[in-house]
Amino acid sequence: TKVSPFVNEPFTDFSKEENKKAMEAALAKVKAELGRDYPLHIGSKKVMTEARIVSINPGDKDEVIGRVSKADQALAEEAMQVALQAFESWKRVPAAERADYLFKAAELMRQRKHEFSAMMILESGKNYAEADADTAEAIDFIEFYAREMLRLSRINETQPLTKIAGETNNLTYIPLGVGVVIPPWNFPLAICVGMTTAAVVSGNTVLLKPASTTPVIAHKFVALMEEVGLPAGVINYIPGSGAEVGDYLTTHPKTRFVSFTGSKEIGLRINRLAAETAPGQIWIKRVVAEMGGKDGIVVDETADLQAAAQAIVASAFGFQGQKCSAGSRAFIVESVYDEVVEKVVELTKALQVGLPETNAPVGPVIDQGSYDKILNYIEIGKTEGKLLAGGGKAEGNGYYIEPTVFADVDGKARIMQEEIFGPVLAIGKAKDWKEAIAMYNDTEFGLTGAFFSSDEDRIEEALETMHCGNLYINRKCTGALVGVHPFGGFNMSGTDSKAGGYDYLLLFTQAKLTSRKN
Ligand code: NAD
Ligand code: ALA
Repeated sequence: TKVSPFVNEPFTDFSKEENKKAMEAALAKVKAELGRDYPLHIGSKKVMTEARIVSINPGDKDEVIGRVSKADQALAEEAMQVALQAFESWKRVPAAERADYLFKAAELMRQRKHEFSAMMILESGKNYAEADADTAEAIDFIEFYAREMLRLSRINETQPLTKIAGETNNLTYIPLGVGVVIPPWNFPLAICVGMTTAAVVSGNTVLLKPASTTPVIAHKFVALMEEVGLPAGVINYIPGSGAEVGDYLTTHPKTRFVSFTGSKEIGLRINRLAAETAPGQIWIKRVVAEMGGKDGIVVDETADLQAAAQAIVASAFGFQGQKCSAGSRAFIVESVYDEVVEKVVELTKALQVGLPETNAPVGPVIDQGSYDKILNYIEIGKTEGKLLAGGGKAEGNGYYIEPTVFADVDGKARIMQEEIFGPVLAIGKAKDWKEAIAMYNDTEFGLTGAFFSSDEDRIEEALETMHCGNLYINRKCTGALVGVHPFGGFNMSGTDSKAGGYDYLLLFTQAKLTSRKN
């Protein structure tokens, strides 16, 4: 059957009353399901463990989202054996059939879109638009990777090998084996779904260890895949402690690859542990690690200053700054510095903080650990810059922090160099646009960036010299779209992969050449 070209899932306009009502109805439905117990999925077996991970609503700490069973090393081993066995049959399922499971899953997720978003509003603290974008991205990943697998399976037609007389030659992208998929909590659906479906559609089987603060939305996805009939053992759901289950599986001799998205610290740890060869291991493990960011926006004096200020605020405080793409830094040239800073402060002060289910623009941060860490960085910021907005806790029965702006921050300051992963913006002053770009580049990370200017020569220079995986001109530095803006960064932002791009499935496959004498 012919597959239509990929198009992005549209976002929902919540200024329309009927859409707002639909989300409220979905929230009510999901609320009625809160507090349930969830098992591990190991092949067709559902395992309820005594130990549980309790997932709570970060915006209302007394609300339990669910209690999720927790794997230990013995259960992780059982899951590994099941995944190894499932791989033997799954790898022989034709690509088109594997893609069909994804197409069905995308359709079902689309039908229940608001339900998935509502769960994220409650479990991760996203507002309506942020949750809707997360679900839309998840649907996009499924649709995109299904098509990508079909494309790879036809590579001999679309990108033929050089012909020689007397032989028929073919290149086939075959799967790797069992992969450990470790997503973060901040795109608890999109990234979890993206990494998992890319692995699975390529013919691998997966041990999915969701982030411990958002395991219920991950379970909702796993249940959906079961509902579309994905064979048992292809995706195994094993929440657990990163240190215990994560390290065990990373060092396991049968692990063929680890697909990780999360912090620099854990990414580097996985990279290091996976590089060791365990007894009995017969391959070099592949590690795809998408890690942190210290992204920023550069504004010169020719820019549309209002648009720049709006982009700075949207990039810094969208989902409370908890995006790897968050614009936590801004560099503004001296001649327009005061004007832009004033606009940024005004827009920031207008942001209301409140309960995500009421669709407050700014919600809570994810958990106590993040809350403490961010408040600590705010205290550090008070010694490193001039506090112009926010600066502390906000009201509510959750992990609420005021959107915070520091100006006149030195490029070497800790709040300019370290990923805070919260609603904290550091602004630096540059003498001119070239110095501003140099300040932007003075980081170990390299994920996203934006340049605001109306000068074509400068834009050309910025395109050339700002060193990051996703560089935007005259727009915010968050909100990459699958297929449109393949996403992933340089240096300490990861292994230079591009989620939602044409190279991505190559990370989950190996190319086999077959040559037959005629
Ligand atoms: P994290 O590194 O704390 O956790 C990520 C995942 O790793 C979680 O599932 C966690 O349980 C697991 N983990 C913890 N210890 C482990 C271990 N020893 N072995 C294996 N797994 C282990 O990150 P987080 O707080 O969930 O997410 C925020 C981070 O993710 C930020 O740094 C952000 O920039 C980054 N991020 C990057 C991208 C990207 O595309 N580059 C996208 C989203 C988030
Ligand atoms: N892909 C997400 C963004 O671009 C992280 O904001």
